[in-house]
Amino acid sequence: MAATAASQGAHASHPEPDRAWRQEVRELARQRDAILLAHNYQVPEIQDIADHVGDSLALSRIAADCAARTIVFCGVHFMAETAKILAPDKTVLIPDARAGCSLADSIDAEQLRAWKAEYPGAAVVSYVNTTAEVKAETDICCTSSNAIEVVNSIPPEQEVLFLPDQFLGAHVRRATGRANLHVWAGECHVHAGINGSQLAAQAAAAPEAELYIHPECGCATSALYLAGEGAVPADRVRILSTGGMLAAARATAARATGAREVLVATEVGMLHQLRRAAPGVEFRAVNDRASCRYMKMITPAALLRALREGVEEVTVPTDIAQRARGAVQRMIKIGQSGGVE
Ligand code: 13P
Ligand code: SF4
Repeated sequence: MAATAASQGAHASHPEPDRAWRQEVRELARQRDAILLAHNYQVPEIQDIADHVGDSLALSRIAADCAARTIVFCGVHFMAETAKILAPDKTVLIPDARAGCSLADSIDAEQLRAWKAEYPGAAVVSYVNTTAEVKAETDICCTSSNAIEVVNSIPPEQEVLFLPDQFLGAHVRRATGRANLHVWAGECHVHAGINGSQLAAQAAAAPEAELYIHPECGCATSALYLAGEGAVPADRVRILSTGGMLAAARATAARATGAREVLVATEVGMLHQLRRAAPGVEFRAVNDRASCRYMKMITPAALLRALREGVEEVTVPTDIAQRARGAVQRMIKIGQSGGVE
Protein backbone atom coordinates (compact mmCIF):
# COMPACT_ATOMS: atom_id res chain seq x y z
CA MET A 1 0.00 0.00 0.00
CA ALA A 2 2.78 2.47 0.98
CA ALA A 3 4.75 1.73 -2.24
CA THR A 4 1.65 2.32 -4.34
CA ALA A 5 0.95 5.60 -2.61
CA ALA A 6 4.55 6.75 -3.04
CA SER A 7 4.54 5.91 -6.73
CA GLN A 8 1.41 8.04 -7.18
CA GLY A 9 3.36 11.21 -6.33
CA ALA A 10 1.04 14.14 -5.54
CA HIS A 11 -1.94 11.83 -5.16
CA ALA A 12 -0.24 10.14 -2.25
CA SER A 13 -0.99 13.02 0.12
CA HIS A 14 -4.42 13.71 -1.43
CA PRO A 15 -6.12 10.34 -1.85
CA GLU A 16 -9.25 10.53 -3.97
CA PRO A 17 -12.30 11.43 -1.83
CA ASP A 18 -13.89 8.02 -2.38
CA ARG A 19 -10.90 6.24 -0.91
CA ALA A 20 -10.61 8.72 1.96
CA TRP A 21 -14.32 8.31 2.63
CA ARG A 22 -14.06 4.55 2.68
CA GLN A 23 -11.09 4.62 5.03
CA GLU A 24 -12.78 7.01 7.44
CA VAL A 25 -16.04 5.07 7.43
CA ARG A 26 -14.27 1.80 8.17
CA GLU A 27 -12.08 3.36 10.87
CA LEU A 28 -15.01 5.06 12.62
CA ALA A 29 -17.06 1.86 12.43
CA ARG A 30 -14.18 0.03 14.12
CA GLN A 31 -13.89 2.69 16.84
CA ARG A 32 -17.63 2.56 17.54
CA ASP A 33 -17.76 -1.24 17.39
CA ALA A 34 -20.41 -0.75 14.71
CA ILE A 35 -21.79 -3.12 12.12
CA LEU A 36 -23.03 -1.52 8.89
CA LEU A 37 -26.19 -3.07 7.45
CA ALA A 38 -27.51 -2.00 4.04
CA HIS A 39 -30.73 -2.88 2.27
CA ASN A 40 -30.59 -3.99 -1.37
CA TYR A 41 -32.15 -0.64 -2.45
CA GLN A 42 -29.31 1.50 -1.10
CA VAL A 43 -27.04 3.46 -3.46
CA PRO A 44 -24.05 1.41 -4.72
CA GLU A 45 -21.44 3.24 -2.55
CA ILE A 46 -23.38 2.33 0.60
CA GLN A 47 -23.93 -1.28 -0.50
CA ASP A 48 -20.23 -1.64 -1.27
CA ILE A 49 -19.01 -0.41 2.13
CA ALA A 50 -21.56 -2.28 4.25
CA ASP A 51 -20.70 -5.38 6.29
CA HIS A 52 -23.92 -7.00 5.07
CA VAL A 53 -26.32 -6.21 2.23
CA GLY A 54 -29.63 -8.02 2.13
CA ASP A 55 -33.40 -8.08 2.26
CA SER A 56 -35.52 -7.06 5.23
CA LEU A 57 -35.64 -10.54 6.72
CA ALA A 58 -31.92 -11.26 6.44
CA LEU A 59 -30.98 -7.88 7.91
CA SER A 60 -33.41 -8.33 10.83
CA ARG A 61 -31.84 -11.69 11.61
CA ILE A 62 -28.34 -10.20 11.57
CA ALA A 63 -29.47 -7.34 13.84
CA ALA A 64 -30.90 -9.86 16.31
CA ASP A 65 -27.73 -11.98 16.43
CA CYS A 66 -24.75 -9.70 15.88
CA ALA A 67 -22.15 -9.05 18.56
CA ALA A 68 -21.42 -5.40 17.67
CA ARG A 69 -22.37 -2.70 20.19
CA THR A 70 -23.79 -0.39 17.51
CA ILE A 71 -25.89 -1.11 14.43
CA VAL A 72 -25.80 1.50 11.67
CA PHE A 73 -28.87 0.78 9.57
CA CYS A 74 -28.60 2.00 6.01
CA GLY A 75 -32.20 1.57 5.02
CA VAL A 76 -35.48 3.18 6.00
CA HIS A 77 -36.78 4.03 9.44
CA PHE A 78 -39.03 1.00 10.05
CA MET A 79 -36.03 -1.28 9.37
CA ALA A 80 -33.89 0.51 11.97
CA GLU A 81 -36.82 0.43 14.40
CA THR A 82 -37.18 -3.34 13.84
CA ALA A 83 -33.47 -3.74 14.63
CA LYS A 84 -33.94 -1.75 17.85
CA ILE A 85 -36.94 -3.89 18.85
CA LEU A 86 -34.85 -7.04 18.33
CA ALA A 87 -31.70 -5.66 19.94
CA PRO A 88 -32.89 -3.24 22.64
CA ASP A 89 -29.51 -3.04 24.37
CA LYS A 90 -27.66 -1.93 21.27
CA THR A 91 -27.33 1.59 19.91
CA VAL A 92 -29.10 1.74 16.55
CA LEU A 93 -28.25 4.62 14.24
CA ILE A 94 -29.88 5.62 10.95
CA PRO A 95 -27.89 8.09 8.84
CA ASP A 96 -31.03 10.12 8.02
CA ALA A 97 -34.11 9.76 10.22
CA ARG A 98 -36.31 11.33 7.52
CA ALA A 99 -35.98 8.11 5.50
CA GLY A 100 -39.58 6.96 5.87
CA CYS A 101 -41.75 4.63 3.80
CA SER A 102 -45.00 5.40 1.97
CA LEU A 103 -46.21 1.85 2.62
CA ALA A 104 -45.59 2.04 6.38
CA ASP A 105 -47.48 5.36 6.37
CA SER A 106 -50.57 3.73 4.86
CA ILE A 107 -51.85 2.44 8.24
CA ASP A 108 -51.47 3.69 11.81
CA ALA A 109 -52.16 1.95 15.13
CA GLU A 110 -55.56 3.59 15.57
CA GLN A 111 -56.74 2.43 12.14
CA LEU A 112 -55.50 -1.06 12.92
CA ARG A 113 -57.32 -1.14 16.27
CA ALA A 114 -60.55 -0.12 14.50
CA TRP A 115 -60.04 -2.87 11.86
CA LYS A 116 -59.38 -5.48 14.57
CA ALA A 117 -62.61 -4.49 16.33
CA GLU A 118 -64.51 -5.49 13.13
CA TYR A 119 -62.93 -8.98 13.17
CA PRO A 120 -62.62 -10.19 16.76
CA GLY A 121 -60.54 -13.36 16.94
CA ALA A 122 -58.69 -12.71 13.67
CA ALA A 123 -54.91 -13.11 13.56
CA VAL A 124 -53.09 -9.92 12.57
CA VAL A 125 -50.20 -10.35 10.12
CA SER A 126 -48.28 -7.15 9.47
CA TYR A 127 -45.64 -6.70 6.82
CA VAL A 128 -42.38 -5.52 8.38
CA ASN A 129 -42.96 -2.23 6.50
CA THR A 130 -44.99 -0.83 9.43
CA THR A 131 -44.30 1.41 12.41
CA ALA A 132 -43.40 0.00 15.83
CA GLU A 133 -46.86 1.10 17.09
CA VAL A 134 -48.55 -1.03 14.42
CA LYS A 135 -46.26 -3.96 15.20
CA ALA A 136 -47.34 -3.65 18.86
CA GLU A 137 -50.92 -4.42 17.70
CA THR A 138 -49.76 -7.39 15.59
CA ASP A 139 -49.64 -11.15 16.22
CA ILE A 140 -46.93 -11.96 13.71
CA CYS A 141 -44.89 -9.88 11.30
CA CYS A 142 -43.67 -11.05 7.89
CA THR A 143 -41.49 -9.86 5.04
CA SER A 144 -41.87 -10.54 1.34
CA SER A 145 -39.48 -13.52 1.82
CA ASN A 146 -41.69 -15.40 4.26
CA ALA A 147 -45.24 -13.95 3.99
CA ILE A 148 -46.70 -17.19 2.59
CA GLU A 149 -45.10 -19.37 5.29
CA VAL A 150 -46.22 -16.95 8.01
CA VAL A 151 -49.84 -17.07 6.84
CA ASN A 152 -49.65 -20.85 6.48
CA SER A 153 -48.54 -21.04 10.14
CA ILE A 154 -51.98 -19.74 11.22
CA PRO A 155 -54.77 -22.34 11.65
CA PRO A 156 -56.77 -22.46 8.37
CA GLU A 157 -60.11 -21.74 10.06
CA GLN A 158 -58.87 -18.54 11.76
CA GLU A 159 -59.52 -15.28 9.93
CA VAL A 160 -56.44 -13.24 9.03
CA LEU A 161 -56.02 -9.48 8.74
CA PHE A 162 -53.09 -8.88 6.38
CA LEU A 163 -51.59 -5.41 6.15
CA PRO A 164 -50.69 -2.98 4.75
CA ASP A 165 -49.72 -3.96 1.17
CA GLN A 166 -52.59 -4.89 -1.15
CA PHE A 167 -50.39 -6.39 -3.88
CA LEU A 168 -48.42 -8.59 -1.49
CA GLY A 169 -51.75 -9.48 0.17
CA ALA A 170 -53.24 -10.52 -3.19
CA HIS A 171 -50.15 -12.64 -3.87
CA VAL A 172 -50.40 -14.34 -0.46
CA ARG A 173 -54.13 -14.98 -0.90
CA ARG A 174 -53.48 -16.52 -4.33
CA ALA A 175 -50.59 -18.66 -3.08
CA THR A 176 -52.33 -19.91 0.07
CA GLY A 177 -55.81 -20.18 -1.48
CA ARG A 178 -57.17 -18.63 1.70
CA ALA A 179 -60.57 -16.96 1.35
CA ASN A 180 -60.55 -15.76 4.99
CA LEU A 181 -57.57 -13.44 4.44
CA HIS A 182 -58.62 -9.79 4.56
CA VAL A 183 -56.21 -7.34 2.96
CA TRP A 184 -55.61 -3.66 3.81
CA ALA A 185 -55.63 -1.40 0.73
CA GLY A 186 -52.16 0.14 1.21
CA GLU A 187 -49.38 0.35 -1.34
CA CYS A 188 -45.80 1.43 -1.87
CA HIS A 189 -45.74 4.35 -4.31
CA VAL A 190 -42.58 3.02 -5.99
CA HIS A 191 -43.76 -0.55 -6.58
CA ALA A 192 -47.37 0.38 -7.36
CA GLY A 193 -45.94 2.52 -10.20
CA ILE A 194 -44.45 -0.53 -11.96
CA ASN A 195 -47.50 -1.48 -13.96
CA GLY A 196 -48.75 -4.35 -16.07
CA SER A 197 -48.62 -2.54 -19.42
CA GLN A 198 -44.91 -1.66 -18.97
CA LEU A 199 -44.22 -5.27 -18.09
CA ALA A 200 -46.23 -6.70 -20.98
CA ALA A 201 -44.46 -4.44 -23.52
CA GLN A 202 -41.00 -5.33 -22.23
CA ALA A 203 -41.74 -9.04 -21.95
CA ALA A 204 -42.98 -9.03 -25.58
CA ALA A 205 -39.77 -7.29 -26.72
CA ALA A 206 -37.54 -9.80 -24.85
CA PRO A 207 -39.20 -13.20 -25.26
CA GLU A 208 -36.19 -15.11 -23.86
CA ALA A 209 -35.93 -13.04 -20.68
CA GLU A 210 -36.87 -14.23 -17.20
CA LEU A 211 -39.04 -11.87 -15.14
CA TYR A 212 -38.18 -11.20 -11.49
CA ILE A 213 -41.09 -9.44 -9.86
CA HIS A 214 -41.32 -8.12 -6.32
CA PRO A 215 -44.74 -8.98 -4.84
CA GLU A 216 -45.32 -5.34 -3.82
CA CYS A 217 -45.47 -4.39 -7.52
CA GLY A 218 -48.61 -3.26 -9.25
CA CYS A 219 -47.66 -5.61 -12.09
CA ALA A 220 -47.45 -8.84 -10.05
CA THR A 221 -51.02 -9.82 -10.90
CA SER A 222 -50.47 -8.92 -14.58
CA ALA A 223 -47.33 -11.05 -14.69
CA LEU A 224 -49.22 -14.10 -13.51
CA TYR A 225 -52.02 -13.26 -15.93
CA LEU A 226 -49.49 -13.07 -18.80
CA ALA A 227 -48.13 -16.44 -17.71
CA GLY A 228 -51.65 -17.88 -17.46
CA GLU A 229 -52.43 -16.64 -20.99
CA GLY A 230 -49.22 -18.15 -22.33
CA ALA A 231 -47.87 -14.70 -23.34
CA VAL A 232 -44.83 -15.40 -21.15
CA PRO A 233 -43.71 -18.95 -20.31
CA ALA A 234 -44.87 -19.60 -16.72
CA ASP A 235 -41.47 -20.96 -15.69
CA ARG A 236 -39.88 -17.61 -16.55
CA VAL A 237 -42.08 -15.59 -14.18
CA ARG A 238 -40.76 -15.45 -10.63
CA ILE A 239 -42.41 -13.53 -7.78
CA LEU A 240 -39.52 -12.89 -5.39
CA SER A 241 -38.35 -10.81 -2.46
CA THR A 242 -35.19 -8.82 -3.11
CA GLY A 243 -33.12 -11.56 -1.43
CA GLY A 244 -34.95 -14.17 -3.49
CA MET A 245 -33.98 -12.30 -6.66
CA LEU A 246 -30.31 -12.57 -5.73
CA ALA A 247 -30.57 -16.29 -5.07
CA ALA A 248 -32.37 -16.75 -8.40
CA ALA A 249 -29.73 -14.70 -10.23
CA ARG A 250 -26.93 -16.86 -8.82
CA ALA A 251 -28.83 -20.01 -9.76
CA THR A 252 -29.54 -18.88 -13.33
CA ALA A 253 -25.89 -17.83 -13.82
CA ALA A 254 -24.72 -21.26 -12.63
CA ARG A 255 -26.95 -23.17 -15.09
CA ALA A 256 -25.71 -23.65 -18.66
CA THR A 257 -29.30 -23.24 -19.82
CA GLY A 258 -30.03 -20.32 -17.47
CA ALA A 259 -31.46 -17.02 -18.75
CA ARG A 260 -28.98 -14.47 -20.09
CA GLU A 261 -31.47 -11.63 -19.82
CA VAL A 262 -33.68 -10.77 -16.85
CA LEU A 263 -36.35 -8.05 -16.54
CA VAL A 264 -36.48 -6.78 -12.97
CA ALA A 265 -39.62 -5.28 -11.46
CA THR A 266 -38.60 -3.61 -8.22
CA GLU A 267 -36.75 -0.56 -6.94
CA VAL A 268 -33.73 0.17 -9.16
CA GLY A 269 -31.13 -0.10 -6.36
CA MET A 270 -31.57 -3.87 -6.68
CA LEU A 271 -29.74 -3.91 -10.02
CA HIS A 272 -26.37 -3.28 -8.35
CA GLN A 273 -26.43 -6.49 -6.28
CA LEU A 274 -27.88 -8.51 -9.17
CA ARG A 275 -25.12 -7.39 -11.56
CA ARG A 276 -22.47 -8.20 -8.96
CA ALA A 277 -23.98 -11.61 -8.28
CA ALA A 278 -24.29 -12.60 -11.95
CA PRO A 279 -22.03 -10.46 -14.17
CA GLY A 280 -22.74 -12.59 -17.26
CA VAL A 281 -26.48 -11.91 -17.13
CA GLU A 282 -28.07 -8.71 -18.41
CA PHE A 283 -30.47 -7.23 -15.84
CA ARG A 284 -32.88 -4.51 -16.97
CA ALA A 285 -35.36 -2.51 -14.91
CA VAL A 286 -38.98 -2.81 -16.04
CA ASN A 287 -39.34 0.82 -14.91
CA ASP A 288 -36.02 2.63 -14.59
CA ARG A 289 -37.65 5.51 -12.70
CA ALA A 290 -38.75 3.22 -9.87
CA SER A 291 -36.42 4.78 -7.34
CA CYS A 292 -37.31 5.12 -3.65
CA ARG A 293 -36.45 8.65 -2.54
CA TYR A 294 -36.43 7.51 1.09
CA MET A 295 -33.83 4.81 0.49
CA LYS A 296 -31.72 7.34 -1.43
CA MET A 297 -31.63 9.73 1.56
CA ILE A 298 -28.87 7.54 2.98
CA THR A 299 -26.01 9.22 1.15
CA PRO A 300 -22.27 8.65 1.67
CA ALA A 301 -22.08 12.03 3.46
CA ALA A 302 -24.96 11.08 5.77
CA LEU A 303 -23.29 7.79 6.65
CA LEU A 304 -20.04 9.54 7.49
CA ARG A 305 -21.86 12.07 9.67
CA ALA A 306 -23.71 9.26 11.45
CA LEU A 307 -20.43 7.60 12.35
CA ARG A 308 -18.61 10.81 13.27
CA GLU A 309 -21.36 12.23 15.46
CA GLY A 310 -23.22 9.10 16.61
CA VAL A 311 -26.49 10.25 15.00
CA GLU A 312 -29.37 9.73 14.43
CA GLU A 313 -30.20 7.37 17.24
CA VAL A 314 -33.36 5.31 16.81
CA THR A 315 -35.42 4.70 19.92
CA VAL A 316 -38.66 2.83 20.52
CA PRO A 317 -40.65 3.44 23.74
CA THR A 318 -40.12 0.45 26.05
CA ASP A 319 -43.81 -0.53 26.30
CA ILE A 320 -44.26 -0.42 22.51
CA ALA A 321 -41.05 -2.40 21.95
CA GLN A 322 -42.12 -5.03 24.48
CA ARG A 323 -45.50 -5.47 22.79
CA ALA A 324 -43.97 -5.55 19.29
CA ARG A 325 -41.08 -7.90 20.07
CA GLY A 326 -43.03 -11.17 20.05
CA ALA A 327 -44.46 -10.47 16.58
CA VAL A 328 -41.03 -9.63 15.17
CA GLN A 329 -39.34 -12.60 16.83
CA ARG A 330 -41.98 -14.94 15.38
CA MET A 331 -41.20 -13.43 11.96
CA ILE A 332 -37.47 -14.12 12.07
CA LYS A 333 -38.04 -17.75 13.08
CA ILE A 334 -40.10 -18.54 9.96
CA GLY A 335 -38.82 -19.21 6.45
CA GLN A 336 -35.66 -18.71 4.48
CA SER A 337 -34.39 -15.37 3.36
CA GLY A 338 -33.30 -15.29 -0.26
CA GLY A 339 -29.70 -14.36 0.36
CA VAL A 340 -27.38 -11.94 2.04
CA GLU A 341 -23.85 -10.79 1.34
P1 13P B 1 -37.54 -7.02 0.83
O1 13P B 1 -36.12 -6.62 0.83
O2 13P B 1 -37.90 -7.71 2.09
O3 13P B 1 -37.95 -7.77 -0.39
O4 13P B 1 -38.39 -5.64 0.90
C1 13P B 1 -38.51 -4.76 -0.09
C2 13P B 1 -38.93 -3.41 0.34
O5 13P B 1 -39.70 -2.75 -0.29
C3 13P B 1 -38.35 -2.83 1.52
O6 13P B 1 -38.83 -1.59 1.68
FE1 SF4 C 1 -41.21 1.82 1.45
FE2 SF4 C 1 -41.61 1.41 -1.12
FE3 SF4 C 1 -39.45 2.71 -0.37
FE4 SF4 C 1 -39.68 0.07 0.13
S1 SF4 C 1 -39.52 1.05 -1.86
S2 SF4 C 1 -38.99 1.65 1.55
S3 SF4 C 1 -41.87 -0.11 0.49
S4 SF4 C 1 -41.56 3.42 -0.09
